[in-house]
Amino acid sequence: MKLTDSPAWQALSAHAASFSQHHLRDLFAADAGRFERFSRRCDGLLLDFSKQRIDAEAHRLLLDFAAAADIDGWRQKMLSGEIINHTEGRAVRHVALRAGEAAPPETRAVLAQMQDCCDSIHNGVWRGYSNERITDVVNIGIGGSDLGPRMAARALAAAQQPDLRVHFVANVDAADIAPLLARLDPRATLFIIASKTFTTQETLINARTARAWLLAAAGSEEAVARHFIALSTARERTREFGIADANVFEFWDWVGGRFSLWSAIGLSLALAVGWSNFTQLLAGARAMDEHFANAPAADNLPLTLALLTLWNTDFLGAPSAAVLPYSQSLELLPAYLQQLEMESNGKQTDRAGQGIGVPTNPIVWGAAGSNGQHSFYQLLHQGGQLVPCDFIALGESDFPLPGHHRPLLANCLAQSAALAFGQTAAELRAAGVSETLLPYKLFPGNQPSSTLLLPRLDAYTLGQLLALYEHKTFCLGVLWNLNSFDQWGVELGKTLAGRIEPLLAGNGDASAFDASTRGLLAALRSAS
Ligand code: F6P
Repeated sequence: MKLTDSPAWQALSAHAASFSQHHLRDLFAADAGRFERFSRRCDGLLLDFSKQRIDAEAHRLLLDFAAAADIDGWRQKMLSGEIINHTEGRAVRHVALRAGEAAPPETRAVLAQMQDCCDSIHNGVWRGYSNERITDVVNIGIGGSDLGPRMAARALAAAQQPDLRVHFVANVDAADIAPLLARLDPRATLFIIASKTFTTQETLINARTARAWLLAAAGSEEAVARHFIALSTARERTREFGIADANVFEFWDWVGGRFSLWSAIGLSLALAVGWSNFTQLLAGARAMDEHFANAPAADNLPLTLALLTLWNTDFLGAPSAAVLPYSQSLELLPAYLQQLEMESNGKQTDRAGQGIGVPTNPIVWGAAGSNGQHSFYQLLHQGGQLVPCDFIALGESDFPLPGHHRPLLANCLAQSAALAFGQTAAELRAAGVSETLLPYKLFPGNQPSSTLLLPRLDAYTLGQLLALYEHKTFCLGVLWNLNSFDQWGVELGKTLAGRIEPLLAGNGDASAFDASTRGLLAALRSAS
């Protein structure tokens, strides 16, 4: 049966048609207990979704829809290691990476290897080719082999290890790696080549550049063993690249790239913030895993976030969703969530190979507050487009400088209230606003949002937060009946780039390409 023909979908559709015109002002006025009804607490976190455009009936119907989609059954399949990534024939077991004592022996062995590596670098035992202590680590990777550790190292800047700088290079554009190499000392620099497949073009080009840079200074291939580490599932390819087996940190095809922070891919993060913080990150994620596995549907935070996204996207018609962390340290979270959610669920083919027929993942975007207030919030308030927002705020600051945190929190609360309730003509008139200016100063409101409060930002709460969004992503895949764990949509561009590159060098026949591509090729060739 088509998703949209199912009784549970039809019931939601009918309710949305009669309900969607209600204003959040009216919903709050009609229900003094709305905050209590639509907020949930879990292990120090508070999710307030009372400013979402739902009522008790919508909530009930969404939970019915989740039950009809067999969310419990799919979660069980994932957690028990069934091959749920059916297009690639793989299990999905990132949860096992952070299972502590219950983790599989092979994952615990790699964690032990990572801890040893951290100890030897932090303690100055690991030395470069001329016996220098390592002062700089460069993670070379892209997508899931970059965004997670980069975002988490930024988020935990308050816990940064002394005497070690960790850098991230992703783009094949030389403007990424060249200025970094220019300020590093090859004698004291360690490169981590992070690539699940070890075939990714951008990563391998940057890795070769890094190796050439090192060899130009060291003069001998032997230096590679002291300055290169690989994080990969592809042992043959890491050998081919010349990385000693002892410097390869393994992971497995059942870890998706965008779910891989908890695997060896987290090594750069562990180096940046220390081993005990890395284990705290795993512990926070594990606590969220336990909540996800055991909490009843109505109290289940990841499922709640997923159901709200389903409602906003497919029943209220919102094409995008903003992530607005009121934390400068979480400034890279929107970029991380873009890959997690859009690469997982930006699909139109269901598990049976049929068209889904409704929009799936919204376009995820966002920026740290309060900065965004001075750029794009104008559109959120008066642009006439529905943009559901996730506000994220911290009970206490990770950088406790007097005078900063309270204004930050006040701005966060003010924005979600202004977006929800707006400002009416009557209020403006009562405030003495002239009739000429009144139309410009109207705020329609009714813009839905959730607010997630973390008691503080540390490795544990970051682990909770990231696992929360991972499981939200999983739930949405189940609700849309799609496979969240493949990414066939990235392949065509890679193939075409392979055919276009020789043409840029003037080799080959471009006639199979369209007129636009041929015109651009000609312009670039004549410019070079
Ligand atoms: O091209 C998309 C992608 O495969 C992502 O899914 C992945 O995170 C990224 O490229 C990097 O892949 P790898 O870790 O294999 O280099």
